[in-house]
Amino acid sequence: MNFDSLVTTAREAREKAYAPYSQFKVGAALRTKSGRVFCGCNVENLSYGLTVCAERSAVFAAVAAGETEFEAIAVVADSIQPITPCGACRQVLIEFSGELAVCSANLQDQRYETTIAALLPRAKEGILGT
Ligand code: THU
Repeated sequence: MNFDSLVTTAREAREKAYAPYSQFKVGAALRTKSGRVFCGCNVENLSYGLTVCAERSAVFAAVAAGETEFEAIAVVADSIQPITPCGACRQVLIEFSGELAVCSANLQDQRYETTIAALLPRAKEGILGT
């Protein structure tokens, strides 16, 4: 899968991050199966635990626009190695897309490509009788 444009969009979204407490800005770009792209950035809060990650804010923007089927997500941060979504974001992503492609990149454009299934194996087994 070609992640180039998605990484570029996530990089731009990162600039909008509200991260006065950690100073760690993250951007995400989520592509739907219909081809639309939704951006997200991390939004922090004085009450630290209320922080929402870039990945989840992209998912929530998409769902609010009526989109629930996703194909790929790119995540960009200024990190030594590309960062992968946190556990909470993995769980939210897999809620909608068991086959989501994930590309993590840093500002040097080093990339790590994986899938949500690889990041969160056996996510739904045993829940609600499945
Ligand atoms: N963060 C994200 O937005 N996405 C990730 O994948 C990792 C962490 C944010 C949360 C917090 O605002 C800051 O990065 C430091 O953890």
